[in-house]
Amino acid sequence: MCGIFGYVGKRENAADIVFNGLKTLEYRGYDSWGVAVRQKNKQEFLADKNIGKIGNKRLSKDIYKNPSNFSIGHTRWATHGGVTIKNAHPHLDCTGKIAVIHNGIIENFEGIKKELIKKGHIFISETDTEIIPHLIEEFMGIKKGLPADKSPREPSTNSSEKASGKIRRGFASSVRDAFNLLKGFNAIVVSYGSSSEIIACKNGSPLVVGIGEDEFFIASDLSGITPYTKKLVFLKDNEMAILGKTLQILTLPGGGKIKADIETISFNIEESGKGNYEHFMLKEIFDQPKVIRNLTENHIDQISFLAEMIKKAKGTFFIGAGTAYNACLSGMYLFSKISHKHVNTVFASEFNYLEDFLNKESLIIAFSQSGETLDVIESLNRAKKKKSKIIAVVNSLGSTIYRMADYKFLLGAGPEIAVASTKAYIAKLTVLLMIAYEITGKRKIVKPTLLKTADEIERLLEAENLKKIKETARLVATPKNAFVIGRGVSYPSSLEAALKIKEVSYIHTEGLAGGELKHGPIALIAKGTPCLVFAPNDETYDSIVSNATEIKARGGIIIGISPQNSSSFDHWIEVKDIAEGSYIAQVVVAQLLSYYLALFLKLDPDKPRNLAKSVTVK
Ligand code: F6R
Repeated sequence: MCGIFGYVGKRENAADIVFNGLKTLEYRGYDSWGVAVRQKNKQEFLADKNIGKIGNKRLSKDIYKNPSNFSIGHTRWATHGGVTIKNAHPHLDCTGKIAVIHNGIIENFEGIKKELIKKGHIFISETDTEIIPHLIEEFMGIKKGLPADKSPREPSTNSSEKASGKIRRGFASSVRDAFNLLKGFNAIVVSYGSSSEIIACKNGSPLVVGIGEDEFFIASDLSGITPYTKKLVFLKDNEMAILGKTLQILTLPGGGKIKADIETISFNIEESGKGNYEHFMLKEIFDQPKVIRNLTENHIDQISFLAEMIKKAKGTFFIGAGTAYNACLSGMYLFSKISHKHVNTVFASEFNYLEDFLNKESLIIAFSQSGETLDVIESLNRAKKKKSKIIAVVNSLGSTIYRMADYKFLLGAGPEIAVASTKAYIAKLTVLLMIAYEITGKRKIVKPTLLKTADEIERLLEAENLKKIKETARLVATPKNAFVIGRGVSYPSSLEAALKIKEVSYIHTEGLAGGELKHGPIALIAKGTPCLVFAPNDETYDSIVSNATEIKARGGIIIGISPQNSSSFDHWIEVKDIAEGSYIAQVVVAQLLSYYLALFLKLDPDKPRNLAKSVTVK
């Protein structure tokens, strides 16, 4: 969702650095963007705001005319107020000297806004964010013309003079006090025209500070910072950072100084371009065999550790959201089938309502591509309070979920840029299958299965097979409704396939356990309704094929994904029998179908409407 980028330091092209930083945050999903820079020889900010994507756009000439050594920028994913230039960040106060960017939702903004309006502040946007610059302006007493605090970088408000409102509070104290009033999970970055400092506060969304030589960066993630520096400080919740000539870290709400926890990362962020592929989604689908091989060959010790922890735990919970949750559900079936072990699977957004079952012997395994999903973070906070053990299975190094966990497993799938998750899902299934076998002590079985799975996906990606999948997509590209059915481990596959189709093609698609059809949804089957059927060579085959026959008898068009053709199928896409690897390979067919459906419907598969890559709000 929203992305934050800021720079302060020796370079004079701060706006340019920020603009390029915003491009690295595009994957998070956004619908407008903006950059603010201080005007030449003035203290007021100039903001360049735009709706839509950055694409080939450049910063306005006005911004270039104002070389500055500090700037902040933002990509906005609309929550409060529509997608308009006025609602785009940065937001300014009445004087234009305070510029703010924000990620999160201010739950109590309405009351604060009313009070500020009574005090004469003028609002121009519908956002919750805009209260922040006005609050800071109010605390600083800029309008009232109060004398300045002599120590503006000291966020201490204890003096009686300040408390009585007789002297203007410093910038840092005012930012701190404003932030302390906000309810909800928020991260803000603030600039003040006459201070050449950037101040950040966080109690929810991620913020990383990059420490260069005589310069500092701040961003929602490290990808835009690492080209400049590998020295990072991951801000923790309830921390504030003052970036100027030096870096200061303070605690919130009190403002006590603490030592910056500096980490030097030693890896290079993998090249995240699309290469020769038309879209990131296609590139990421093609990355999948490599992802499976890497996990299979290189991670057995970690898998063994996870298996031991699960064996020891008294109650294991797999949690995740969306696609990550679908992986969790597949894990539950795989554990039951292979390890004869029950695990609980819960949507992260529902986990709060089940926390009564947690204790210090519970094990929570959080699955997340971004490592920033707020629903997951909240669940982990609750689990921590119950002293349960936490394992994070994530794709993003240094992310909040990664850092919260007692034990961390990196999926190593490389940057996933397309909003719809593909390779991170396949990576999670691979890990789950490996753990399921590891628990039984039959590690030798899983390796060849997974290597065959990688080969089978490569076969599906050959030109001839892609042509067939594309042709099938063309045939079903128009209906308003579609279904995907499966049983057993293929039931979560059907949920994931349906999610992929609806995300990128906007065709309403329902994933169902085959046996549930006749309990209601079959009423929706009409002539021409497409239905994908996962029919691997397992105990579900006969039953799922008879479900397919029931749909066909009511006019549905059946697309069978199976090792063998059947008279029930109108179209057949072969996925070879590779034991449990079939549950991984069969989803790749659905990913490709979704991708081609989006192309036929002239939609951008990489950036579906309304969706964000990193879901950092509730
Ligand atoms: C679907 C999709 C989402 C994410 C979900 C969780 O294609 O990408 O459903 O899976 O928002 O995100 P992560 O895995 O980042 O926690």
